[in-house]
Amino acid sequence: MAIDNQLILGLHLSPRPLGSSSVMLKRFQKGVTEAGGTLEIFSVAGRNIQGCVCCGDCYRTGQCRFSDDMDLVLPALEKASRLVIATPVYFYGVPALGKAFIDRVQVFWSRIYKLGQKRQFPVEPKGLVLSVGATKGKDLFTPIKLSMKYFFDSIGFPRTFSFVGYRLVEEPSDWPEEKLAQVEAYGRDFVLGTLGLVEAY
Ligand SMILES: Cc1cc2nc3c(=O)[nH]c(=O)nc-3n(C[C@H](O)[C@H](O)[C@H](O)COP(=O)(O)O)c2cc1C
Repeated sequence: MAIDNQLILGLHLSPRPLGSSSVMLKRFQKGVTEAGGTLEIFSVAGRNIQGCVCCGDCYRTGQCRFSDDMDLVLPALEKASRLVIATPVYFYGVPALGKAFIDRVQVFWSRIYKLGQKRQFPVEPKGLVLSVGATKGKDLFTPIKLSMKYFFDSIGFPRTFSFVGYRLVEEPSDWPEEKLAQVEAYGRDFVLGTLGLVEAY
């Protein structure tokens, strides 16, 4: 997996495989490809992901007791230095299946904070979050931003990351083309290394 900007892991946290956030991530992927990069997408949609039960196994061993579809993505997550998360807003948070995914990342947190296994990256890791919701409340993205801050921290990424949130998109057909074109440009810039720290929501 990633040793530079070229290879990016995309995590799609909606249970809807072809919904609004999927359209957004695919458009980001288009930009990545145009710039000569590769975005490998793992979607939680249709996956079997057991929620964390706080058993404490990973605190002692650095391994999770559960074996399920998380096994399909953990090796990529262990290697990634470039991460893009696409998530819709469900009840002002990440959808339940996406939240199950996040909670299972506790195994990374345990390795770093319980077992003292500091992660080494070939390059400074970088994260970007793309979010989408149907309404337009001022605080629509605040809880997700906080969840993501501690998600990134748990996997050894900086707590500072780019966050872009789009309001008023309930269905894929609601996407204005100019917003998707902007997402595509983010994809290009992310690969080219020209994307600064973006806060737009
Ligand atoms: C269970 C559920 C809860 C939702 N809660 C919110 C919400 O709190 N705020 C909001 O703006 N939109 C909310 N929405 C709307 C979704 O964010 C919106 O339809 C989004 O485009 C769905 O993305 P997806 O198709 O990628 O899942 C909710 C949708 C569902 C299904």
